[in-house]
Amino acid sequence: MNNPFTLIIDDEPDIRELLEITLNRMNIQTLCAEDITSAKKLLEKHSFDLCLTDMKLPDGNGLDLIDYIQKSNKPMPIAVITAHGSMDIAITAMKKGAFDFLSKPVDLTVLRQLINNALKLSAQPQTTKERRTRHLLLGESQLMRDIRSNIDKVARSQAPVYISGESGSGKELIAKLIHQQSPRNESPFIAINCGAIPAELMESEFFGHKKGSFTGATTDKQGLFQAAEGGTLFLDEVADLPLALQVKLLRAIQEKKIRPVGGHQEISTNIRLLSATHKDLNAMVERGEFRQDLYYRINVIDLVSPPLRNRASDIPELAEHLLAKLATSNVQQQPTLSKEAIHGLKHYHFPGNVRELENILERALALYDGKTIELDDLNLPCSTELPKAEEFNPSEMSLEDYLEEIEKEALSKALEENRWNKTETAKHLGLTFRSLRYRLKKLGLD
Ligand SMILES: Nc1ncnc2c1ncn2[C@@H]1O[C@H](COP(=O)(O)OP(=O)(O)OP(=O)(O)O)[C@@H](O)[C@H]1O
Ligand SMILES: [Mg+2]
Repeated sequence: MNNPFTLIIDDEPDIRELLEITLNRMNIQTLCAEDITSAKKLLEKHSFDLCLTDMKLPDGNGLDLIDYIQKSNKPMPIAVITAHGSMDIAITAMKKGAFDFLSKPVDLTVLRQLINNALKLSAQPQTTKERRTRHLLLGESQLMRDIRSNIDKVARSQAPVYISGESGSGKELIAKLIHQQSPRNESPFIAINCGAIPAELMESEFFGHKKGSFTGATTDKQGLFQAAEGGTLFLDEVADLPLALQVKLLRAIQEKKIRPVGGHQEISTNIRLLSATHKDLNAMVERGEFRQDLYYRINVIDLVSPPLRNRASDIPELAEHLLAKLATSNVQQQPTLSKEAIHGLKHYHFPGNVRELENILERALALYDGKTIELDDLNLPCSTELPKAEEFNPSEMSLEDYLEEIEKEALSKALEENRWNKTETAKHLGLTFRSLRYRLKKLGLD
């Protein structure tokens, strides 16, 4: 990009001047406004690559400006400048679509990194790369299409993303795709399983340490934050973070700085934070097992990786893809699945989601006769029993999901008994045809 152009909006002349000087030194042209009205005038006349705006302005709130720019025909990355400690405002702005925040007093290293990130973003073509995501994250159900389009959207932000979902449902795959679609894709993607590091080593693992800072620290060591510099840090099983480290992580996110164990100097960091867990973090917050303030900061944008049973229409495509992959790695010819086998898979409960589907197919590949995989070869665990109310555990599943599950089981059972004749099934259940059709559609059973 030649001569990037930035709009700076702040009512404090000192801040405007500091930002302007720093950006000009980076060969970035700037124009300044002191309030929303004059900013809008400049936005009408010029085309900017980036906007840096204060939140409390004399004639209104910076949040309104975010809306205004996003609705305009010249959208651009917007970073908000917030008063020290007002992380809540930064989070609200990022939820609205601001791509990052800068807190006062402005740290110049952090500012330069932010500008570089923003310019990479402006230089990235706006056209989405949905086709690429489509090859890796399979499924044509509405749920999967929504996830793919959300991945493309959030890849353009720096805001922390929290990915929830059952085990094996694709959380890590989603995290990798967010990184690959983002302007950070040429820097590292570092994934860390927070449950797998001993608590006493965790701080050093995250932030690094200085030689001699504890027994065994024979050299300086870089932590994961530094290893992920410029890229993405994925905290998997974030629910397993010990409380002591949660406090330190909170600081690192807020200040964009870390301090290695035994070190005296803070180091500024430039990472995108993604996190995931299959546990119910909300419930853990309520029980005091996870800090609410940290939950709020890592969960600026949340994505839900839906369980496989809620998108049964994706199962045939996924099964075929996984079979092809397995057959290739076993140097086997790719088998086909019989109709009954596909039917069986579409009605299986899949507590272990896509990973379980993969395991089932791998086992079947070893057993089948060399042509077609039959239902029996799949050896599906029996799961056709209706869930029972006394088994309901709110910390594992919301009431809504649980009731949906029961409805789905009941409808599948009735459909099967009536040989998939919807008119008969509706009669059998005492529903109108339209009401049955509506429910099937809602549950992804059509
Ligand atoms: N939509 C999908 N298309 C293709 N492959 C998928 C899809 N979803 C998941 N997978 C594959 O299923 C496996 C499990 O996915 P992943 O490891 O991302 O799940 P997870 O939610 O992180 O699981 P866990 O909670 O156990 O860590 C991986 O091999 C992944 O590539
Ligand atoms: Mg995982």
